[in-house]
Amino acid sequence: MRIDVAFGGTGFTPSDVAGRLVAVIDVLRASTSIAAALANGARAVIPLDSSGDAVERAKAFERSDVRLAGERKMLAIPGFDFGNSPAQFTREAVEGKTVIMTTTNGTSAIMNTQGARDVVVASYVNFTAVAAMLRAALRGGTDVTLVCAGRERQFALEDAGCAGRYVYGVSRRVTGIELSDAAQACVLIDRKYGDRVLELFDASEHGRALRNAGLVDDLTACAAVDSYPVIPLYQDRQITKLGPERER
Ligand code: MLT
Repeated sequence: MRIDVAFGGTGFTPSDVAGRLVAVIDVLRASTSIAAALANGARAVIPLDSSGDAVERAKAFERSDVRLAGERKMLAIPGFDFGNSPAQFTREAVEGKTVIMTTTNGTSAIMNTQGARDVVVASYVNFTAVAAMLRAALRGGTDVTLVCAGRERQFALEDAGCAGRYVYGVSRRVTGIELSDAAQACVLIDRKYGDRVLELFDASEHGRALRNAGLVDDLTACAAVDSYPVIPLYQDRQITKLGPERER
Protein backbone atom coordinates (compact mmCIF):
# COMPACT_ATOMS: atom_id res chain seq x y z
CA MET A 1 0.00 0.00 0.00
CA ARG A 2 1.04 3.58 -0.63
CA ILE A 3 0.63 7.09 0.77
CA ASP A 4 1.00 10.07 -1.57
CA VAL A 5 0.73 13.79 -0.84
CA ALA A 6 -0.46 16.38 -3.39
CA PHE A 7 0.08 20.11 -2.88
CA GLY A 8 -1.97 23.12 -3.89
CA GLY A 9 -5.35 21.46 -4.10
CA THR A 10 -5.04 20.96 -7.86
CA GLY A 11 -1.80 18.97 -8.37
CA PHE A 12 -3.63 15.76 -9.24
CA THR A 13 -6.12 14.28 -11.73
CA PRO A 14 -9.20 12.06 -11.19
CA SER A 15 -7.10 9.06 -12.29
CA ASP A 16 -4.50 9.90 -9.60
CA VAL A 17 -7.10 9.47 -6.87
CA ALA A 18 -9.30 6.82 -8.50
CA GLY A 19 -10.19 4.09 -5.99
CA ARG A 20 -8.24 5.83 -3.23
CA LEU A 21 -9.15 7.26 0.13
CA VAL A 22 -8.41 10.99 -0.10
CA ALA A 23 -7.98 13.25 2.93
CA VAL A 24 -8.16 16.99 2.18
CA ILE A 25 -6.14 19.18 4.56
CA ASP A 26 -6.69 22.94 4.93
CA VAL A 27 -5.65 23.44 8.53
CA LEU A 28 -5.92 27.25 8.46
CA ARG A 29 -8.87 27.25 8.56
CA ALA A 30 -11.48 25.49 6.36
CA SER A 31 -10.84 21.87 7.51
CA THR A 32 -10.92 22.97 11.13
CA SER A 33 -14.15 24.96 10.77
CA ILE A 34 -15.85 22.08 8.95
CA ALA A 35 -14.93 19.68 11.79
CA ALA A 36 -16.15 22.23 14.36
CA ALA A 37 -19.50 22.68 12.59
CA LEU A 38 -20.16 18.93 12.30
CA ALA A 39 -18.99 18.23 15.86
CA ASN A 40 -21.49 20.85 17.04
CA GLY A 41 -24.40 19.24 15.27
CA ALA A 42 -24.57 20.85 11.83
CA ARG A 43 -26.66 18.62 9.53
CA ALA A 44 -24.19 19.09 6.65
CA VAL A 45 -21.60 21.46 5.19
CA ILE A 46 -21.91 22.23 1.48
CA PRO A 47 -18.62 23.48 -0.06
CA LEU A 48 -18.92 25.84 -3.01
CA ASP A 49 -16.50 27.83 -5.14
CA SER A 50 -18.01 31.31 -5.04
CA SER A 51 -20.11 33.52 -2.78
CA GLY A 52 -22.58 33.90 -5.64
CA ASP A 53 -23.02 30.12 -5.84
CA ALA A 54 -23.43 30.00 -2.06
CA VAL A 55 -26.21 32.61 -2.02
CA GLU A 56 -27.92 30.87 -4.93
CA ARG A 57 -27.67 27.44 -3.26
CA ALA A 58 -29.10 28.80 0.00
CA LYS A 59 -32.34 29.70 -1.79
CA ALA A 60 -33.18 25.98 -1.88
CA PHE A 61 -33.52 26.01 1.92
CA GLU A 62 -35.77 27.71 4.46
CA ARG A 63 -33.67 30.66 5.68
CA SER A 64 -33.97 29.35 9.25
CA ASP A 65 -32.43 26.01 8.20
CA VAL A 66 -29.31 27.34 6.47
CA ARG A 67 -26.24 29.36 7.44
CA LEU A 68 -23.81 31.04 5.05
CA ALA A 69 -20.12 30.89 5.96
CA GLY A 70 -16.94 31.95 4.21
CA GLU A 71 -13.99 34.28 3.81
CA ARG A 72 -12.02 36.15 1.22
CA LYS A 73 -8.57 37.42 2.16
CA MET A 74 -9.31 35.92 5.63
CA LEU A 75 -12.24 38.28 6.28
CA ALA A 76 -15.91 37.28 6.53
CA ILE A 77 -17.87 37.72 3.29
CA PRO A 78 -20.31 40.65 3.71
CA GLY A 79 -23.89 39.48 4.32
CA PHE A 80 -22.82 35.97 5.41
CA ASP A 81 -23.68 34.61 8.87
CA PHE A 82 -20.11 33.52 9.64
CA GLY A 83 -16.58 34.03 8.43
CA ASN A 84 -14.17 31.08 8.74
CA SER A 85 -13.28 31.23 12.43
CA PRO A 86 -13.78 27.76 14.01
CA ALA A 87 -15.12 29.27 17.25
CA GLN A 88 -18.10 30.76 15.38
CA PHE A 89 -19.51 27.28 14.64
CA THR A 90 -20.96 26.72 18.11
CA ARG A 91 -23.74 24.20 18.86
CA GLU A 92 -26.11 27.14 19.44
CA ALA A 93 -25.24 28.60 16.04
CA VAL A 94 -25.24 25.50 13.81
CA GLU A 95 -27.08 22.56 15.42
CA GLY A 96 -29.47 21.03 12.83
CA LYS A 97 -28.48 23.65 10.23
CA THR A 98 -26.99 23.22 6.78
CA VAL A 99 -23.84 25.32 6.49
CA ILE A 100 -23.04 26.53 2.97
CA MET A 101 -19.34 27.41 2.88
CA THR A 102 -16.96 29.05 0.42
CA THR A 103 -13.31 29.76 1.21
CA THR A 104 -10.27 30.74 -0.82
CA ASN A 105 -8.57 27.34 -1.09
CA GLY A 106 -10.17 24.67 1.12
CA THR A 107 -13.61 24.34 -0.43
CA SER A 108 -12.32 24.11 -4.00
CA ALA A 109 -9.71 21.53 -2.96
CA ILE A 110 -12.54 19.40 -1.54
CA MET A 111 -14.65 19.81 -4.68
CA ASN A 112 -11.66 18.82 -6.85
CA THR A 113 -11.55 15.22 -5.61
CA GLN A 114 -13.77 13.51 -8.19
CA GLY A 115 -12.96 9.84 -8.76
CA ALA A 116 -11.80 9.01 -5.22
CA ARG A 117 -13.31 6.03 -3.39
CA ASP A 118 -13.92 8.20 -0.32
CA VAL A 119 -13.05 11.79 0.59
CA VAL A 120 -12.60 12.96 4.18
CA VAL A 121 -11.65 16.35 5.61
CA ALA A 122 -8.60 16.29 7.88
CA SER A 123 -6.85 18.66 10.27
CA TYR A 124 -5.24 18.64 13.73
CA VAL A 125 -8.60 18.93 15.54
CA ASN A 126 -9.79 15.53 14.23
CA PHE A 127 -6.40 13.82 13.90
CA THR A 128 -6.93 10.58 15.84
CA ALA A 129 -10.35 9.88 14.31
CA VAL A 130 -9.21 10.43 10.71
CA ALA A 131 -5.85 8.66 11.22
CA ALA A 132 -7.74 5.55 12.36
CA MET A 133 -9.77 5.60 9.14
CA LEU A 134 -6.61 5.97 7.03
CA ARG A 135 -4.98 3.02 8.79
CA ALA A 136 -8.08 0.85 8.29
CA ALA A 137 -8.13 1.73 4.58
CA LEU A 138 -4.44 0.88 4.12
CA ARG A 139 -4.82 -2.39 6.00
CA GLY A 140 -7.79 -3.12 3.74
CA GLY A 141 -5.67 -2.65 0.61
CA THR A 142 -6.67 0.92 -0.32
CA ASP A 143 -4.02 3.52 -1.20
CA VAL A 144 -4.23 6.95 0.43
CA THR A 145 -3.67 10.44 -0.98
CA LEU A 146 -3.40 13.46 1.31
CA VAL A 147 -4.37 16.65 -0.57
CA CYS A 148 -2.88 19.81 0.93
CA ALA A 149 -5.12 22.74 -0.10
CA GLY A 150 -2.28 25.23 0.26
CA ARG A 151 -2.49 28.96 -0.34
CA GLU A 152 -3.43 30.40 -3.74
CA ARG A 153 -2.60 26.97 -5.21
CA GLN A 154 0.91 27.20 -3.68
CA PHE A 155 2.63 25.00 -1.10
CA ALA A 156 1.62 25.88 2.48
CA LEU A 157 3.90 24.86 5.37
CA GLU A 158 1.07 24.30 7.88
CA ASP A 159 -0.81 21.88 5.59
CA ALA A 160 2.40 19.96 4.83
CA GLY A 161 3.24 19.74 8.55
CA CYS A 162 -0.22 18.38 9.30
CA ALA A 163 0.05 15.91 6.40
CA GLY A 164 3.39 14.82 7.90
CA ARG A 165 1.73 14.08 11.23
CA TYR A 166 -0.79 11.84 9.44
CA VAL A 167 1.87 10.07 7.36
CA TYR A 168 4.08 9.52 10.43
CA GLY A 169 1.19 8.51 12.71
CA VAL A 170 -0.32 6.11 10.16
CA SER A 171 2.77 4.55 8.52
CA ARG A 172 4.51 3.61 11.76
CA ARG A 173 1.55 1.45 12.78
CA VAL A 174 0.89 -0.26 9.45
CA THR A 175 3.78 -2.32 8.10
CA GLY A 176 4.94 -2.26 4.48
CA ILE A 177 3.62 1.20 3.57
CA GLU A 178 5.35 2.90 0.63
CA LEU A 179 5.78 6.66 1.02
CA SER A 180 6.14 9.09 -1.87
CA ASP A 181 8.97 11.66 -1.68
CA ALA A 182 6.36 14.33 -0.92
CA ALA A 183 5.04 12.21 1.97
CA GLN A 184 8.56 11.76 3.36
CA ALA A 185 9.23 15.50 3.09
CA CYS A 186 6.05 16.22 5.05
CA VAL A 187 7.21 13.88 7.82
CA LEU A 188 10.46 15.85 8.08
CA ILE A 189 8.45 19.06 8.62
CA ASP A 190 6.23 17.38 11.22
CA ARG A 191 9.22 15.92 13.07
CA LYS A 192 10.82 19.37 13.21
CA TYR A 193 7.84 20.90 15.02
CA GLY A 194 6.16 17.86 16.62
CA ASP A 195 3.54 19.04 19.12
CA ARG A 196 4.68 22.68 18.84
CA VAL A 197 1.91 23.30 16.29
CA LEU A 198 1.59 27.02 17.07
CA GLU A 199 5.29 27.38 16.27
CA LEU A 200 4.64 25.72 12.90
CA PHE A 201 1.80 28.18 12.27
CA ASP A 202 4.06 31.13 13.14
CA ALA A 203 6.64 29.84 10.67
CA SER A 204 4.01 29.73 7.92
CA GLU A 205 2.92 32.64 5.69
CA HIS A 206 -0.78 32.07 6.32
CA GLY A 207 -0.28 31.66 10.05
CA ARG A 208 1.55 34.98 10.22
CA ALA A 209 -1.10 36.65 8.04
CA LEU A 210 -3.88 35.44 10.37
CA ARG A 211 -1.91 36.66 13.40
CA ASN A 212 -1.37 40.08 11.78
CA ALA A 213 -5.08 40.22 10.96
CA GLY A 214 -5.81 39.80 14.69
CA LEU A 215 -7.15 36.24 14.30
CA VAL A 216 -4.86 34.77 16.97
CA ASP A 217 -7.68 32.82 18.63
CA ASP A 218 -8.20 30.99 15.35
CA LEU A 219 -4.59 29.78 15.44
CA THR A 220 -5.10 28.40 18.94
CA ALA A 221 -8.36 26.69 17.89
CA CYS A 222 -6.73 25.16 14.78
CA ALA A 223 -3.80 23.82 16.84
CA ALA A 224 -6.00 22.05 19.43
CA VAL A 225 -5.34 18.39 18.53
CA ASP A 226 -8.44 16.14 18.75
CA SER A 227 -10.71 18.94 20.03
CA TYR A 228 -13.35 17.97 17.42
CA PRO A 229 -13.10 14.16 17.06
CA VAL A 230 -15.29 13.73 13.99
CA ILE A 231 -14.76 12.27 10.50
CA PRO A 232 -16.21 14.68 7.89
CA LEU A 233 -17.09 12.66 4.77
CA TYR A 234 -17.61 14.43 1.41
CA GLN A 235 -20.23 12.64 -0.68
CA ASP A 236 -23.00 13.77 -3.06
CA ARG A 237 -21.62 17.34 -2.99
CA GLN A 238 -22.00 17.72 0.79
CA ILE A 239 -19.95 16.94 3.89
CA THR A 240 -21.59 15.03 6.72
CA LYS A 241 -20.30 13.42 9.89
CA LEU A 242 -19.36 9.78 9.42
CA GLY A 243 -21.34 7.98 12.09
CA PRO A 244 -21.09 4.48 13.57
CA GLU A 245 -24.04 3.50 11.32
CA ARG A 246 -21.85 4.42 8.35
CA GLU A 247 -18.48 3.05 9.58
CA ARG A 248 -16.53 1.75 6.54
C1 MLT B 1 -8.75 28.80 2.72
O1 MLT B 1 -9.64 28.13 2.26
O2 MLT B 1 -7.87 29.27 2.05
C2 MLT B 1 -8.62 29.11 4.13
O3 MLT B 1 -9.48 28.36 4.83
C3 MLT B 1 -8.67 30.56 4.24
C4 MLT B 1 -8.80 31.09 5.62
O4 MLT B 1 -9.59 30.56 6.35
O5 MLT B 1 -8.12 32.05 5.96
